[in-house]
Amino acid sequence: MRDTTASPLAHPAASLTASFSARSSAGSPAVSSASASDRVKEFHFTRQDFDRVRAMIRDCAGIALADGKQEMVYSRLARRLRATGLGSFTDYLDQLERNALAGEWQAFTNALTTNLTSFFREPHHFPILAQHAHERASLSVWCSAASTGEEPYTIAMTLCDAYGSLTPPVNIVATDIDTDVLQTAAQGIYPAERVRSLPAEQLRKYFLKGKGSQGGLVRVRPELRKLIDFRQLNLLGQDWSLKPPFDIIFCRNVMIYFDKPTQRQILSRFVTLMKPDALLFAGHSENFLYVSDALKLRGKTVYELLGRR
Ligand SMILES: C[S@@+](CC[C@H](N)C(=O)[O-])C[C@H]1O[C@@H](n2cnc3c(N)ncnc32)[C@H](O)[C@@H]1O
Repeated sequence: MRDTTASPLAHPAASLTASFSARSSAGSPAVSSASASDRVKEFHFTRQDFDRVRAMIRDCAGIALADGKQEMVYSRLARRLRATGLGSFTDYLDQLERNALAGEWQAFTNALTTNLTSFFREPHHFPILAQHAHERASLSVWCSAASTGEEPYTIAMTLCDAYGSLTPPVNIVATDIDTDVLQTAAQGIYPAERVRSLPAEQLRKYFLKGKGSQGGLVRVRPELRKLIDFRQLNLLGQDWSLKPPFDIIFCRNVMIYFDKPTQRQILSRFVTLMKPDALLFAGHSENFLYVSDALKLRGKTVYELLGRR
């Protein structure tokens, strides 16, 4: 398994450049509409290569790729072959396994994650989060699959509103395995259409509009950015390097990529990091009751500890 040590990301101010190559959440590499098997492939890609990729990404990230993902894997990893200058999947995977390509495990993982997200996704969660904040003097939050940042920024906006302050008494740590999406998240710059559905007041309060070469982009206000500590963390890793206990854990739309034993293992670790009255938020198609007997349902895809006081 790769080194999964959590590491803080540089503050965006240090890395901002004029050409923001912000990767939107829809920025996972696209699968070409024409089936790759209908075309002559640039690289030879066998069933055996696909099975090797599947085993490797499952071992390092827990991601269980379904049988039908061959085209997706080909198109995403073909870019890595081009980037590394290797002529075949066999060579690429051999070298990866021998750790002969510096930084390539991370690039391989980044290529195979799916990062779909949006601001105020699954909006029914946020009034519950606000209510939890209203009942507490401070809040410690872990957003465990932060992707390009829309989810942790939504959490931060909700908590600013709940506490009526741009410096609310909260700690928010936002993690993901994918270093590319974390870089986008840490920059906090998005195409304006990503925030189109937000109320005007919220836009004014929490975003700056890009001008000139940054026209068409928005940037989260520095006050909001400062509330979030973005770090890399593999949910499969041994050392999560977090500061529990948490009042709130968001773990939305990532468990669906893991098999049941992996889900069970991760949930049993979550339970030990939760305060007795903490809440755990799941994605719309995730049911944690099947994999943990320590949780009970509080509301639609919101869980609390079964033995809570
Ligand atoms: C579909 S996105 C969900 C984003 C957000 N939570 C939401 O619901 O909108 C799934 C995220 O999980 C991350 N991920 C996948 N495997 C992971 C792992 N082993 N550890 C941490 N994050 C992982 C991916 O990089 C991706 O950004």
